[in-house]
Amino acid sequence: MEFIDTHAHLTDEAYNEDLIATIERAKSAGVAKIITLGDTVENSAASLTFSQKHSGIFAGVCVHPETAATWDEDSVEKLYELAKSEKVAGIGEIGLDYYWEKDEDKRELQRKIFVEQLNLAKELNLPACVHDREAHGDTLKILKNEVKGVRGVCHCFSGSYEMAVELFKIGFYIGVDGPVTFKNAAKLPEILAKSPKDRVLLETDSPYLSPAPMRGKRNEPANIPYIAAKLAEIWSVSVEEVAEITTSNAKRLYEKIA
Ligand code: NI
Repeated sequence: MEFIDTHAHLTDEAYNEDLIATIERAKSAGVAKIITLGDTVENSAASLTFSQKHSGIFAGVCVHPETAATWDEDSVEKLYELAKSEKVAGIGEIGLDYYWEKDEDKRELQRKIFVEQLNLAKELNLPACVHDREAHGDTLKILKNEVKGVRGVCHCFSGSYEMAVELFKIGFYIGVDGPVTFKNAAKLPEILAKSPKDRVLLETDSPYLSPAPMRGKRNEPANIPYIAAKLAEIWSVSVEEVAEITTSNAKRLYEKIA
């Protein structure tokens, strides 16, 4: 059984003490590949360097909406140079975070750099990993109308079923993380039950969003099987089938990791 954690942040300081052991635990848990995402140009470069030293680790490069203030006129060129590496699987996570950002000018900056980075993904023919927190309308508007033809994943999907359907229509996938295992997972299990199985990816967002029963602790890629088990329950299939389906989905979207 082979899993892929399509979304982690291994360069986070949470792993300063035991990063190698963390990767070993992931491998022991059947997580054969991990995509580690940066959040600034500098951290994206660090993520790439780390991925180049370890087999089975790939990088995502970007400026994250929460660090939009670090964006400058050279950022897109620097990301372009990084993204040419065979170890860069995608552009991300990019997008909009209206939960943390309430200021309208700063939200405008998020939209601007989201569009610029989507264009970068398009130019390099790389998938985009999209972060959308309480910005469903604008996220969908940009993906459908402003930069068309980029494929990608809406990571830690938190929208409605109707939004998921719109995303599937434009070739997008949805990412499922620890919160699906929470008692208050709301409508997410129902949405996943109705979604095409070939459009769902497993991800941890480590070190955040630990699944039950690890909720509240530091998350790590080795926890993927908890999320897979919940998805197996929702889909009424075996965990082996979830592994097979989601791994083939991840390789289809993120071609460079296949
Ligand atoms: Ni993340």
